[in-house]
Amino acid sequence: MKINITLNGEKKVFNANYDDYLIDVLRKNGYLGVKKGCDTGSCGACSVHMDGKVVLSCATLACRADGHEITTIEGVQNEATKIAKYFANEGVEQCGFCSPGTVMSILYLEKCIENPTDEEILHYLNGNLCRCSGYQGQLRAIRMYLEAKQDEKSW
Ligand code: FES
Ligand code: FES
Repeated sequence: MKINITLNGEKKVFNANYDDYLIDVLRKNGYLGVKKGCDTGSCGACSVHMDGKVVLSCATLACRADGHEITTIEGVQNEATKIAKYFANEGVEQCGFCSPGTVMSILYLEKCIENPTDEEILHYLNGNLCRCSGYQGQLRAIRMYLEAKQDEKSW
C-alpha cells in the first residue's frame, strides 16, 4: 500500500505492507535518526511526533500514519543541537543512542507545559530509557535548557 505522510514538513509517499511498523518504514527510507532499541514499546528510542504528539514508532503501524504529520529527529535539528549542548555540559551525552527519542519527548513536554516542575519533567521523560547516563544529569540538563528558553522569551 501507499502511505502519504507529511514528514518533517515535506509531502512523502512510501510503500509499506499492512503489517509494517512506522519505525521500519522510516528507517528503510533513510530516517536513521529514529532508533530501534527494544522493538517492544518499552525504551522510547523510537519516539517520533505524530500530529505533534509523541508516539512510539515501533508500536505504530505505518498505515496509521497515512494522512498524518510525522516529525523525526531529522526535522528538529536546531532544537536537538541546543539540547545536546546542555546534555554534554552535564556529561550525559554518552553513547547517544537514546538521545533522538529523548529529544522528541523534551520537545513534546515543552509544547504541553510552559514551566514544568521536576516531577513533570520526569513524568514526560519516564518512557525514555538511558542505559549509560543515569537520570539526574539528564534532569539537570533539561531544567537548564528549559530555563534558558524561558530567559530567551523574556527578552
Ligand atoms: S524501540 Fe520503540 S520503544 Fe524501544
Ligand atoms: S546515552 Fe547511551 S543509552 Fe542514553
